[in-house]
Amino acid sequence: MDAFGVKMAGAAQQNRAWKGLGATAKRLFMGARSSHDWEHTQRVCRLCRRMGPAEGADMDVLLAAGYLHDIGRCFEDAANGDVCHAEKGAQMAGEIIAPHGFSKDQKENILHCIRAHRFRGKAAPKTIEAKVLFDADKLDAIGAVGIARAYLFAGEIGARLHNPFVKIEAMPPYSVNDTGFREYKVKLIKIRDRMHTDTGRRLAEDRHRFMEGFFQRFLEEHAGKR
Ligand SMILES: [Fe+2]
Ligand SMILES: [Fe+2]
Repeated sequence: MDAFGVKMAGAAQQNRAWKGLGATAKRLFMGARSSHDWEHTQRVCRLCRRMGPAEGADMDVLLAAGYLHDIGRCFEDAANGDVCHAEKGAQMAGEIIAPHGFSKDQKENILHCIRAHRFRGKAAPKTIEAKVLFDADKLDAIGAVGIARAYLFAGEIGARLHNPFVKIEAMPPYSVNDTGFREYKVKLIKIRDRMHTDTGRRLAEDRHRFMEGFFQRFLEEHAGKR
């Protein structure tokens, strides 16, 4: 286990060019909102540790990108979504990884992983490391953890528990009319079909099924049927 709660093994234990990046990244999450905080990064890195070896990923690249993938998040939050945290994070990461002994290809790959990890982003993940990071990051948005995060986020922006009287498509994100259910219907429900790796698809299927059951029950309880 490293200092940041991520289990270590194999190649990543030997090379560790990413060593120290966890501490640097952690500092950049001071005051972050709970739905996208340092703990999210730790969960994503734990999934990367689990998925990376099965997918043949360069664990040095994957863990470096995992630790740094959301360091631009506070800029997106401050701009209420007008800044792309993936682009911003990649800009910031270039300088951070410079002294860490990565090869030129590894550095380019790390920045690509960060740039391409965003669900709504323009860049698609091309390398296996970027695909694993994308999948790990999205897996943290679904299942039991994903539901909990959706409601944390709704709470952070002062949104309500549920709003059955407006059209979901008409409800803007980052507004008081946003809800955890809206996030599920417009985003989370699609994540299972956006996975890039076999491991990601398998884990997403299980988390998706749990989420479907939860929201079915949620609507029934909200309507007073159970
Ligand atoms: Fe992100
Ligand atoms: Fe993330």
